[in-house]
Amino acid sequence: MEQTINRGLDGVYIDESAICFIDGAKGQLIYAGYDIRELAGKASFEEVTYLLWHGALPTAAQLEEFRRQLAPNFNLPEAVYQLFRALPQGADPMLALHSAVSLLGSLDAAANGVDEDNVKRIGMRLLPQFPLLVAAFQRIRNGQEPVQPRADLSVAGNFLYTLTGEEPTPAATRVMDVALVLHAEHGSNASTFVARATASTLTDVYSAIGAAVGALKGPLHGGANTAVMKALESIGSVAGVEPYVLDILGQKGGRVMGFGHRVYKVLDPRAVILKDVSRALAEESGDSKWFEMSLEMERVMDREMAKKGKEVKPNVDFFSASVYRMLGFPGDIYTPIFAVARIAGWMAHLYEQYADNRLMRPRLAYTGVMDKKFVALEQR
Ligand code: CMC
Repeated sequence: MEQTINRGLDGVYIDESAICFIDGAKGQLIYAGYDIRELAGKASFEEVTYLLWHGALPTAAQLEEFRRQLAPNFNLPEAVYQLFRALPQGADPMLALHSAVSLLGSLDAAANGVDEDNVKRIGMRLLPQFPLLVAAFQRIRNGQEPVQPRADLSVAGNFLYTLTGEEPTPAATRVMDVALVLHAEHGSNASTFVARATASTLTDVYSAIGAAVGALKGPLHGGANTAVMKALESIGSVAGVEPYVLDILGQKGGRVMGFGHRVYKVLDPRAVILKDVSRALAEESGDSKWFEMSLEMERVMDREMAKKGKEVKPNVDFFSASVYRMLGFPGDIYTPIFAVARIAGWMAHLYEQYADNRLMRPRLAYTGVMDKKFVALEQR
């Protein structure tokens, strides 16, 4: 067999899929036929989830039925709160989310079934539970009681409500909803690939989603939004941005978080939308510091990358950091918020994977030594 090595699986197609199309050269992102620029701001996260799961936007009646089925699943078992209370101060929110997903699986007597009905049943539970998990973790580590969700609120609304305990404003709910739509799906990204590869062993949905949460956590993937905020906080002012960027780029292999993408060779369309959202929030709130710093970072990166003949543009994680900051969220829950949205995409891919499965089993080109003679332990 010819050994073609595609490091990082760059350019490798693992299967066919009808969920998402990305044209990296044009900066185009399509969810099941619809351009993300059309969906963001026009379709709710629930509508987009329905689209990803069914391949078509819902009618008003279908959406109402979908929301009606989700409503009772806005709840968490007491054991999840106990788990969060048992974690040490300073526990990583993504590891907490990972543990909670495993716990939900252990509590589900029918966790192991991978037939279509069971996979869909679990998806309908996890989608409304993810925002509650993130909010409950945040409150419990702050010494606050978890807030009971409201069946009448959306995923975005319940996230804000259970996080703060206050009725979310329509404006904040709208921004949250747009962010969820933008993060809902992105083809065969690392975490989705991991979800599909895990499911390809015919293990259960909770194990596949747990694996995806683990992959999303990394700073080269979803962890980048938390890393962006950490960087902005450490820089502290617009004047500090340029020396910071130059310092990073001066280091061997130095990466400025929130920039660059494997697929997009032009600006990520999600970053374009989030930049506008960030600008609008900065104007409304009068707190423009984070947006101004982000603009400065983009300017310096553009200039420095142009000198090297490279196009390394902001990705979705870049402007989402300032947006979440202006919504008042602590930096280390930005990646869990990414998971609140991406559960929609992960589940869509699990439906496809389980429906027509083949075990994923790639190879590694062996570069080790051959024909060594075994020497007994006492003679080594
Ligand atoms: N800062 C500085 N230089 C960069 C960056 C960056 N953030 N990203 C890419 N480059 C340069 C890189 O040095 C390389 O140059 P050379 O060819 O001279 O070595 C060139 O651009 C191509 O980069 P690459 O590493 O070959 O590209 P990749 O496809 O393997 O990596 C990436 C993609 C996203 C891992 C990378 O751009 C990166 O590390 N970015 C920072 C982390 C980040 O923001 N991740 C979020 C990704 S998008 C949303 C998500 O998945 O969550």
